[in-house]
Amino acid sequence: MRMSEPFDFFQAGELPAPVVSVPDAVAIARDHFGLAVTATALGSQQDANFLLRGATGEPVGVLKVANPAFGRVEIEAQDAAATFLADAGLRAARNITPIAEVPDGSGGTLFARIIDFLDGGTMSGDGYVPPHRWAALGSLVGRAGTALAGFDHPGLQRTLQWDLRHADRTIELLAHYVAEPSRRHLVQTATAAAWRTVAGLAADLPMQAIHGDITDDNVVCGRGLGGADQSPDGIIDFGDLTHSWAIGELAVTVSAVLRHEGGEPAAALPLIAAFHQVRPLRDSEIAALWPLVVLRAATLVVSGNQQAAVDADNEYASGALEFEWRIFERAVSVPSDVMTALIADAVRRPAAAHTPELAPILAGVVADDVVLLDFSALSDLVDAGAWLDTGCEQDAAARALAAGAPAAVTRYGAPRLTRSVALHHDSPATVPTGIDVWLADATSVTAPLDGVVESAAEGEVILAGPDGVVVVVRGPSVRPAELTGHAVAAGAPLATAGPGRVWLQIRTGDSDLSVPAFVRPEYAPGWLALSADPAPLLGLAPRSGADEDADDLVRRREGALAGVQEQYYRRPPRIERGWREYLCSVDGRSYLDMVNNVAAIGHGHPDLADAVARQWRRLNTNSRFNYRAIADFSQRLAATLPDPLDTVFLVNSGSEAVDLALRLAMATTGRHDVVAVAEAYHGWTYATDAISTSVADNPNALTTRPPWVHTVTSPNSYRGEHRGAAAGRYADEAVDIIETLVAEGHSPAAFICEPFYGNAGGIALPDGYLPAVYRAVRAAGGLAIADEVQVGYGRLGRWFWGFQGQQVVPDIVTVAKSMGNGQPLGAVITTRAIADAYRTQGYFFSSAGGSPVSCVVGLTVLDVIEREGLQHNALVVGDHLRARLADIATRHPLIGAVHSCGLYMGVELVRDPVTLEPAVAETSAICERMRELGIIVQPTGDRMNVLKMKPPMCLSVTAADFFADTLERVLSTGW
Ligand SMILES: Cc1ncc(COP(=O)(O)O)c(C=O)c1O
Repeated sequence: MRMSEPFDFFQAGELPAPVVSVPDAVAIARDHFGLAVTATALGSQQDANFLLRGATGEPVGVLKVANPAFGRVEIEAQDAAATFLADAGLRAARNITPIAEVPDGSGGTLFARIIDFLDGGTMSGDGYVPPHRWAALGSLVGRAGTALAGFDHPGLQRTLQWDLRHADRTIELLAHYVAEPSRRHLVQTATAAAWRTVAGLAADLPMQAIHGDITDDNVVCGRGLGGADQSPDGIIDFGDLTHSWAIGELAVTVSAVLRHEGGEPAAALPLIAAFHQVRPLRDSEIAALWPLVVLRAATLVVSGNQQAAVDADNEYASGALEFEWRIFERAVSVPSDVMTALIADAVRRPAAAHTPELAPILAGVVADDVVLLDFSALSDLVDAGAWLDTGCEQDAAARALAAGAPAAVTRYGAPRLTRSVALHHDSPATVPTGIDVWLADATSVTAPLDGVVESAAEGEVILAGPDGVVVVVRGPSVRPAELTGHAVAAGAPLATAGPGRVWLQIRTGDSDLSVPAFVRPEYAPGWLALSADPAPLLGLAPRSGADEDADDLVRRREGALAGVQEQYYRRPPRIERGWREYLCSVDGRSYLDMVNNVAAIGHGHPDLADAVARQWRRLNTNSRFNYRAIADFSQRLAATLPDPLDTVFLVNSGSEAVDLALRLAMATTGRHDVVAVAEAYHGWTYATDAISTSVADNPNALTTRPPWVHTVTSPNSYRGEHRGAAAGRYADEAVDIIETLVAEGHSPAAFICEPFYGNAGGIALPDGYLPAVYRAVRAAGGLAIADEVQVGYGRLGRWFWGFQGQQVVPDIVTVAKSMGNGQPLGAVITTRAIADAYRTQGYFFSSAGGSPVSCVVGLTVLDVIEREGLQHNALVVGDHLRARLADIATRHPLIGAVHSCGLYMGVELVRDPVTLEPAVAETSAICERMRELGIIVQPTGDRMNVLKMKPPMCLSVTAADFFADTLERVLSTGW
């Protein structure tokens, strides 16, 4: 029997979806709408939906057969709302037929109509969604909310279980469907707490028409390049349309974030901030939002269990149960008070900080004598390498006390490098919500304010003051007086403490939450809002303002630096520390650095730091003075090369080295033409830029080469014209070009090439390539230049120099990057005769090239490579990683090839194993997601579809495995 009253969930009871088969759907389309179609069932909890396709398979629309519990006016309202949104400029699924009344087979009728099929994928599933797509969803919901505020219809007056205004009743009614008692209990407790907050705010929550279900399932995304889903821009399924709290719309969408890989509560912040940009949140809405998310999650859990119970055949409902539980668990994983403060911070409306008046509590400790211990990424207290070790906190404090300080104290709210964790996917809990105090002597502890002693057990005193202020004093040396339950006045003795470490925390606000000692940076603004700086307990001023964050720094950098001097990432972390193969941000997050070939011996190497400091104190000057380091280093460098390469020029960079190599070749041969390889990068100076043909570095490279530059095809055996065994032809073609140049009177001065093709993505040259081309260029009277700036110096594992892999000896070798481990240092090594020819070009002098400090750097780097066996490590770890990646490639066809030699690697990503269509957008998105999971890796190659991996040569097997595991996780769960 059809109800004429508006739907009321509390009257209607169970709501199994109407039983409509695929043949029924085809028949309805034919009989009621005159359409000859095929139908495919689409999942729905309450209705029956079918995608209809025409004769050629083209989508015709979606047949929706509404649940008989809903009246005609409600369905009309849904169609009207879709049209209203479409008229307001949003992509919304409008009805394309009127509503038809269809017999239900048992004497009743069902309402059926066909609505627009919106092209594009949804965001459904549990895969990872990047922050910018969540933000796009937030904007879409904001736009829909803004538009629907002007919509009204009699069919909005209904009572739905999804309307969060009724969440407490719905959950109470359905909780018994959650069979497992512990889960049921969690749902009920969380509901009670959330409802208390929401009920208190209800009167201040604006009402309007809401879609009620703009989730990942109910939005569609336009298609981008290669068919990849773009950001959501369309809205479907208006079945939960109603008149309710406007903020409920956002709460529903936020809950959808929590079902996805990586969808922890903080992942919803970009969505919320983007919504707020379009439709500003009121204070009452900020306060209600997270409790509403909890209520939505609880509603999903109880309703899902109910639906699965009453409609056992509905796979859509039963399949969703675990997702729904995940949403709930995540919604309650961070206390609502913390989330509310975090949301307020994200929309830049933080509540005013509550700073209680507190008297100093450590009798006899004079504030001026207290030493402040800074354990941040910018602190010099933490030694290179020690920062991954909390033990160094103790050592630094002991040093301060040994120097006579009565106490040493840490900083509140400042992320601690010492709490960082290497090889970790989540950011670790580095932000202290209290302070540590190391006391030199036993000290009496007094009450900082009037209050009641909540607890005074061995090792701890907790004092509760007015306005919800709670002071915690904790530590093994804390011996409290027996005061539990007693009221005490400010200044009254509470305990003795010291010598040794004492932890102080001040909680504020009304919540009786215990605040963890360290919290993760993403949640820090939320937790810190529930605490205050305990520094005044020592008579010190509270910490004022936070350190400059990564975003502020980017803005300042962009204001001062040239725009073309770019940076990695959309929102780069602020990196201020490095150690071995790790980098660390000011948040105390450790990243595995897979990109820094320059830091060949690793970051923060103490031998290098010490050697440089020593030399700086002694002397740094230019190479026209007579000092030992320049002779030592030049000899050492030349000794790494075969005869007759025995003469060194020292410069400051790869560009300078290559530029000089070209000039040497021109001077020696008296010619000007140079043969270079396509897709190459050799530097940014006028001459090195001229021979650089990589379009990734310069989009105009191929059309703007000067006439003296002649390119040969990039000898790419994976995707070039000649592949596999046929790759030998590249050498023949290069030889032809050289011979043609000779015939045309343009005999080349030189042929220049990376001996292992780094800039093309780490691709080995075809066997015999350099021998053939070197022979040809020499036969033409030109010279062979090997650009070893990227690949030389041991990284390839099998050889120290790349050219050794091709069994050739060049006439000129250029090197930089690794040889200085980041210090500006480059070199050209050649024969005495070629070096002498430079005189015809005039004068050679480079002010800082070959300076004492640079030479000491060069010597130390060579020492470390030898002493630590880094070339061998590059071979062993490189081969291990290559095998891991090759195995992953068998499961993930996106990996087209793993190019590698030692620790120079390129994982080439393709959309199609046959056409090798470069997966460009995917590569960039994967790099972003890898960063979120703690790994720095970047795209390279002319098509920017190769993950370039050239980590410090000290990379450990554990770190290599972390990389491989993380890449597989990303390939499996999305980017
Ligand atoms: C092969 C090659 N040559 C030369 C250079 C230029 O070196 P630099 O950046 O030190 O000037 C680079 C830099 O990436 C390079 O990869």
